Amino acid sequence: MILFPRILSTRFHPRCIVCTVCQISRRSFHRKLPRQALPPTILSEVFAGIKTKKIVAADFGKDATAGSDLQRAVSFEPLCLKEELLCKVTDPVRDCCHKVSIVGSGMVGVAIANAILFQRISSHVAMVDAFPKKLEGEGMDYCHGSVFLGDPRIEFDTDFCITSNSKVIILAAGVRQVKGESRLDLVQRNSEILKNIVPTLASYSPHAVFLIVSNPVDILSWVTWKVSGLPVNRVIGSGTHLDSARFRYLIADRIGMAPSSVHAQIIGEHGDSQVPLWSGVNVAGVQFRDILPNIGLETDDERWFEVAKEVIRLGPTVRCLKGYTNTAIGLSVADIVNAILSNSQRVMPVSTLIQGHHEICQEVFLSLPCAIGESGITNIIRMRITETEKKLFQASANMVYNVQKDVKTS
Ligand SMILES: NC(=O)c1ccc[n+]([C@@H]2O[C@H](COP(=O)([O-])OP(=O)(O)OC[C@H]3O[C@@H](n4cnc5c(N)ncnc54)[C@H](O)[C@@H]3O)[C@@H](O)[C@H]2O)c1
Repeated sequence: MILFPRILSTRFHPRCIVCTVCQISRRSFHRKLPRQALPPTILSEVFAGIKTKKIVAADFGKDATAGSDLQRAVSFEPLCLKEELLCKVTDPVRDCCHKVSIVGSGMVGVAIANAILFQRISSHVAMVDAFPKKLEGEGMDYCHGSVFLGDPRIEFDTDFCITSNSKVIILAAGVRQVKGESRLDLVQRNSEILKNIVPTLASYSPHAVFLIVSNPVDILSWVTWKVSGLPVNRVIGSGTHLDSARFRYLIADRIGMAPSSVHAQIIGEHGDSQVPLWSGVNVAGVQFRDILPNIGLETDDERWFEVAKEVIRLGPTVRCLKGYTNTAIGLSVADIVNAILSNSQRVMPVSTLIQGHHEICQEVFLSLPCAIGESGITNIIRMRITETEKKLFQASANMVYNVQKDVKTS
C-alpha cells in the first residue's frame, strides 16, 4: 500500500488501471467508515437473529418469497452504485412537517392510511403495530404502490420511535367489538392498551395532535388526555363525525339529494346514547323543522325518527355483514387529519372535553361541533339546541360518565 502513490503516479500505466485502483481504494475506505446503527426496528431484530442464529419475533415467514437470510443481509451493504451516482450535499429532513403516525394497522388503521395516502393528505405516514407480520405486509404493500401515490414516505415498525416528531398521532390500536358487545364493553381492554402506549408516543412527539379512534372513543379520548398530560385542545376523539356522515347520507337518500347538501349533526356519545339534532337539519338553509315541526319525534307521521335509529344500527349492521367497519371511519378520520394539517378551522362534530357546556358538570369527552386546525380544537360551537336535545345530551354524558368513573388512569 505504501507503494500505491508511486505506482499510481507512474506514466507507464494505462489510465484505466489507475482509475480502477483509485476506485477500489475509495470503496474499501468507505467500507471501513463506522456505519450508522439501525434503530431498533423489525429489521435490526432480523439481523440480530441472523447473527445469533435464533428465531426472532419479526421473522418474515418461511415461504419461498421471503428470501434467504444471507440475501437479506447482503442487500443492506452500502451500494457502490449509489456512491458513484450521488454527490451528497446534505441530509434530507427526517420528519416532514405533516408527518402522520397511525398506531394499529388493523382494518381501521389500514383504511385510515388508505384514505390519507390516496387523497394525498400527507406524504409521510408512519405505521406501528404490536403484530409485526401483518404490519410488515401492509407496509410493504404501501411501499410497492408508492410510485402511484406521489412518492410518499412510508415507515412501519413495531418500535414507537418511528413516530417521532409527528404532527398527528392516530390511535386505532386495540380490540374491536364482537357480536352483542357494546362499545362501552371494550373500555377495560382498550384503556389498558392506551395507558401503556400514550406516554411513550407523547414523549416522541410532544407537539402532536392526538386523534383517538379506538372504541369506546369518548372514554379513550379522556384516558389519552389524562395519561398524556397534553393540553385538552390537542386530544380529539373521532366521535360522531362518522355518525353525522351516516345521518346526512340517510336523510339525503330519503329526499334524493347529495349527502353533502344536507346539513345535519349528531352530538353526544359515539354510541347508543347519541343525539340527532333535528332542530338544525336543513338543506340550503331551509330548516326541516319549519316544514315539519315534530320531525324526529315519535309523533311524526313521516317517521323521520327511524332515520336516527338506523344511524345507530349501521355500525353493527356493517360489522355483521363484513366482519368489521373500516372504509367510512377511514375517510372520516382522514377528513379530520386534513383539517388539522391544513389549519382550516373547519367545523365538525368531534369528541372533546364538554364540561361546562349545556350544563354538564362531569369531566367527560363527548362530541360537539368544533373548529379544527393545526393546534387541534380551537373553538367549540355554542349550539342553540332545544330543551329536549339538551336533556338527551346530558343523559348521554351521564351514561358515558357512569362507565368512565371506574376506569383508572394511574
Ligand atoms: N371510532 C369509530 O368510529 C370506530 C369505527 C370502527 C372501529 N373502531 C375501533 O377501532 C379499533 C380498531 O379496530 P380494527 O377493526 O382495526 O381492529 P383490528 O383487530 O383489525 O386491529 C387492531 C390492531 O391493533 C393492534 N394492537 C393491539 N394492541 C396494540 C398495541 N399495544 N400497540 C400497537 N398495536 C396494537 C393489533 O395488533 C391489531 O393489528 C377498535 O377499538 C374498534 O372498536 C372505531
